[in-house]
Amino acid sequence: MYNFDEVIERRNTNCDKWDKAPEGVIPMSIADMDFALAPFLRDHVTKAFANNPVLGYGNYDAESDCINKAVRAWQKERYNVDVPAESVSFAIGVVPAMVMAIEAFTKEGDAILINQPVYPPFADVVVNNNRDLIVNNLIEVDGRYEVDFHQFEADITSNNVKLYFLCNPHNPGGRVWTETELCKIGLICKRHNVLVFSDEIWRDIVFAPAKFTSFLAVDPSHADFSIVASAATKTFNIAASKTSFTIIPNPKLNAIYLKKRSATKLYEINILNALSDLTRVAYEEGADYLDELVKYLQANRDFAIRFFKDFLPHVKVQVPEGTYLMWLDFSYYKIDDKALQSRLSEEARVMLNPGPTFGKVGANHARLNFACPRSVLEEALHRLKEAF
Ligand SMILES: Cc1ncc(COP(=O)(O)O)c(C=O)c1O
Repeated sequence: MYNFDEVIERRNTNCDKWDKAPEGVIPMSIADMDFALAPFLRDHVTKAFANNPVLGYGNYDAESDCINKAVRAWQKERYNVDVPAESVSFAIGVVPAMVMAIEAFTKEGDAILINQPVYPPFADVVVNNNRDLIVNNLIEVDGRYEVDFHQFEADITSNNVKLYFLCNPHNPGGRVWTETELCKIGLICKRHNVLVFSDEIWRDIVFAPAKFTSFLAVDPSHADFSIVASAATKTFNIAASKTSFTIIPNPKLNAIYLKKRSATKLYEINILNALSDLTRVAYEEGADYLDELVKYLQANRDFAIRFFKDFLPHVKVQVPEGTYLMWLDFSYYKIDDKALQSRLSEEARVMLNPGPTFGKVGANHARLNFACPRSVLEEALHRLKEAF
């Protein structure tokens, strides 16, 4: 029903991904999808703007009952997490919500833990807010990342960690952390009074048999010490709407967070989302779209994995259980990262995210975004084959 094969020209449309790529280079980088906005969302956007010719100050209540209900219903029906209405509040992005959490729950010099490799802003927001960045490296076991729990606990205790940023599902490795893994993380964090900020922005893009589990769903006690953040933006490709939400079931923590949010005034949702009520509509009407999208992405993933196996066996690939990101290890070629990036962009004419931006352990790696029409993916992979 939805045409994910359609190639859309995104160059010169103020598109971060395509406008940054030199002419002739295919960007498989920044994490949005090269698919058209789903028609049911496009209708809402078009009508909303047609009916509101003036873009003045709006009177939108992001925290209105109907948006709140739509967010909670998605949460409950898909992930079996029932949260009180007052625990949900909006933010202008998951990353800004992380910053808010840093300010609300820690002070300068406090230690904040992340795993690496991980989405680069995890480290940036800690360092730029003058907190002490503690890095726990994920370990690769049988071609996929795992947490070294012994080291994880040691990193917490030896640094007196106050806050931990969990990335579930994991960008760039595509791991969808299991209930057992989340339970171990929860036990360790609880034991050492570490608050958990669980970034669950990728939760909807998961490939069977992997199954997403929210940090909140694992154990009722997690509600006491966690801040969960998510959004409809990755799922429905509406990142431009800059709208996310947090769920903080512990009323005391929620009050501290909301006080900080109120002090910053950074919570008015973007006009695009507000006028067309995008988040609510996406959650209320988007289930079929999401099913089709995930099928398409899974087929893209499988196609790429097969391609690497058949034609580029020396590039080590982690099979993502979720997300539309693929983490590629080019160590076999014994070239440094600068040379790797120029080989990618100048010889292969394909732009990938450089591995080192995800942490030191990302050396010799690059991240590939496969959320594009199959024909574009095929062309990019053929180019990689020629260059490597
Ligand atoms: C793990 C993760 N968190 C957060 C974001 C960005 O979220 P936002 O645009 O809501 O700040 C991304 C975007 O790629 C991401 O991969």
